[in-house]
Amino acid sequence: MSVEQRPEIVTLMAERGSFDPPAAFAARANATPALYDEANADFEAFWAREARERVDWETPFHTTLKWELPFAEWFVGGRLNISYNCLDRHVERGLGDKVAYHWIGEPGDTRTFTFRDLLVEVARCANALKELGVGQGDRVAIYLPMIPELPIAMLACARIGAPHTVVFGGFSAEALAGRINDAEAKVLITADGGYRRGNIVPLKQSADQAMQETPTVERCIVVRRTGHEVPMTAGRDLWWDDVVERQAAECPPVWVDSEHMLYLLYTSGTTARPKGIVHTTGGYLVGTSVTHHYIFDIKPDDVFWCAADIGWVTGHSYIVYAPLANATTGIIYEGAPDTPAWDRWWQIVEDYKVTILYTAPTAIRAFMKQGEAWPAKHDLGSLRLLGTVGEPINPEAWLWYHLNIGGERCPVVDTWWQTETGMILITPLPGITRTKPGSATFPFPGVGAAVLDSTGQPVGPGGGGYLVLTRPYPAMLRGIYKDPERYRQTYWTRFDGTYFTGDGARLDTDGYFWLLGRVDDVMNVAGHRISTIEVESALVDHPAVAESAVVGKTDPVVGQAIFAYVILKAGRQPSDELAVELREHVAKVIGPIAKPKHLMFAPDLPKTRSGKIMRRLLRDIAEGRALGDTTTLADAGVVETIRTESGREED
Ligand code: WTA
Repeated sequence: MSVEQRPEIVTLMAERGSFDPPAAFAARANATPALYDEANADFEAFWAREARERVDWETPFHTTLKWELPFAEWFVGGRLNISYNCLDRHVERGLGDKVAYHWIGEPGDTRTFTFRDLLVEVARCANALKELGVGQGDRVAIYLPMIPELPIAMLACARIGAPHTVVFGGFSAEALAGRINDAEAKVLITADGGYRRGNIVPLKQSADQAMQETPTVERCIVVRRTGHEVPMTAGRDLWWDDVVERQAAECPPVWVDSEHMLYLLYTSGTTARPKGIVHTTGGYLVGTSVTHHYIFDIKPDDVFWCAADIGWVTGHSYIVYAPLANATTGIIYEGAPDTPAWDRWWQIVEDYKVTILYTAPTAIRAFMKQGEAWPAKHDLGSLRLLGTVGEPINPEAWLWYHLNIGGERCPVVDTWWQTETGMILITPLPGITRTKPGSATFPFPGVGAAVLDSTGQPVGPGGGGYLVLTRPYPAMLRGIYKDPERYRQTYWTRFDGTYFTGDGARLDTDGYFWLLGRVDDVMNVAGHRISTIEVESALVDHPAVAESAVVGKTDPVVGQAIFAYVILKAGRQPSDELAVELREHVAKVIGPIAKPKHLMFAPDLPKTRSGKIMRRLLRDIAEGRALGDTTTLADAGVVETIRTESGREED
């Protein structure tokens, strides 16, 4: 769908004034306008300076950037270890007693780790992995709830040069198996379960199911979190307590090449098969730590809370690697924001004197719906900066956040980026940028972004089109795992030689970037990317389903809700029970996050004469919009029937 066809989003984003940086904030801000000048003059030199100042290299790099479009190498010749940069060097410099993480379990239990504590745990876990035969380059899959063992396991992998692939705990056994198999992981680290809204998420059960189809997995380490009984397979499964706790508290870091693969993270694209996004070590560390320092204005005494799940890229970059590299004290909360009540987060902010909060618009809209009485019950005076990520933020939610959480004193940074980019790319710099609610404002220093029309020409101020990235940057993806052709095809062919983000954007007359959401067949549900085709394949995988088409429908809380049209096989009758069963089926195949909110049985799908499903039309029907020209339809009658049915559809 083209951007021009989405006027409703543009209208929604109508400007609501602007906010100058508070003078007191500006006076102490890490970022200065000179950063833009420096980076504009020579972006490679800018990144090279930051890389030298911010990272400890075992061997210095000799070349900042090797760019053979579309393949980048950063800090070539450099050798380093990211866990050393996140832990050892801080301990060596006297920060061993500084808190790295305050962890809060959903039931109310807490744990605190200093940088020294974390280093010991990471070393033990790394030694355990070595004992199990994991060596440099071997992949380790991690399927854990938001417990301290999650970052510990990631850092332990990084310590020995074993790339990790973290699979979000909300994904199903099938989704887990698919990722493990693509990564060919040797070891899986999971838990007996995790807590979510007082319930136990049965991770080990899903892991067991997945491991029936994952021939590469030799060993499974199981963390005891909930303590309920789970089956353990002799010769394969080991309790974390048994294998990690008894290990030596020291493990020398393995120095790796700057371009050594740090991790794989799977994300949805326009096909049913998730893409294994490859991130490497040196550039990723530089890109994430630099952006964290300037965008979140990190000071030594800050308490930084990125409230994402570590299973997504936001957690990888801004809960684990960047904050630890910058020696920042962080918060990790295991559970749901409404457990036991809707002020759980505000209680945490008050208890731990959180200074910076980074979350998604979906969460803000959910809090907004519950009313300002919940945050008002707590002292949120410690907060000094707020951030958002994951989806476009509507000005109403921005203003609510600014007023009710930030007490009108905290700058709000709306940060645009992707799993692929690894680091924030479009964002205000607090203390410098005048913000406009709903706009992510400008590219970070050194980053090149542009908005192109469908012919590839840059749109001028006031124009709308497609967001592209025009320069390499250190944390960028290095490719799609084992599939360089798909990498090229997915990102570099829509506009030849320029990275296409898949997002629509508008430039206002002041040159501000306004993100308008995805323009491909990827939905953004509560800040999570889910492809329409993944959900469609999950539906047709059910024996009753002949065909399906899935579209995103605008939703006031989660941004986009999944709307599925289902055509049954001959002889199968639509029923409420079947609708429930189909939703559950999608949850089983992909995970609960992909469960369609709306499911409609349709007699047929509108198709063009060449047989292409008319998705735009289906979106219009889902949104209840007036229908455009349907003369190209093979069977125009279908549309009328679907539309009439859609009027009766139940959530
Ligand atoms: C969307 C999350 C508008 C966008 C870090 C992007 C945003 C996709 C913003 C990536 C923002 C992310 N404003 N849209 N500030 N941030 N997006 O890979 O569509 O889970 O392409 O990475 O989220 O989602 P992903």
